[in-house]
Amino acid sequence: MPSDLIRVLSRDEIAQRIKALANRISKDYVGKEICAIGVLKGAFIFLSDLVRQLTIPVQIDFVRLASYGDSAESSENVRITKGIELDIRDRHVLVVEDIVDCGRTMAFLLEYLNGFHPKSVKVCALITKTERREIDVPIDYVGYGVEHGFLVGYGLDFAEKYRNLPEIYRIKV
Ligand code: IMP
Ligand code: MG
Repeated sequence: MPSDLIRVLSRDEIAQRIKALANRISKDYVGKEICAIGVLKGAFIFLSDLVRQLTIPVQIDFVRLASYGDSAESSENVRITKGIELDIRDRHVLVVEDIVDCGRTMAFLLEYLNGFHPKSVKVCALITKTERREIDVPIDYVGYGVEHGFLVGYGLDFAEKYRNLPEIYRIKV
């Protein structure tokens, strides 16, 4: 592990939390089918672990969003660089995101998805960072709440580095 990283969540902690989230989601949607929409790139590992624990039928799609500006400062202006491919009209959509920070990315994405007239839309975020929240976006399923700091690993990057680390770390400042 690089020496500028401090571990905040271990493999076991992540796995346990995801199992609990998947149990709740499977219970809430029992008898229904969902479309899980992962937000690239950060949510790719979280989504793949989460969906393998679901006991309800699930279809999978991805969106990719880009924001102008520095990667450690997030999302002044968000735009879609890869849209959905599934037809989500009248479907139950579960957005799977790595981190909600200011909330701008999620607010933008929810508006985009609602434009396709899904039956319902809920949000599952592995991490919610509360310190910089600007837009009060609803998050239905939360893995962890974190006050501050920049996190990497388990899909999360800093300048495209560290996505492959199996645990979650805070970058030392
Ligand atoms: P926001 O909620 O619009 O501020 O942006 C959230 C997005 O910023 C997430 O989808 C992440 O891609 C990125 N992000 C925010 N905080 C972190 C972090 O601590 N590590 C890695 N990416 C982050
Ligand atoms: Mg992201």
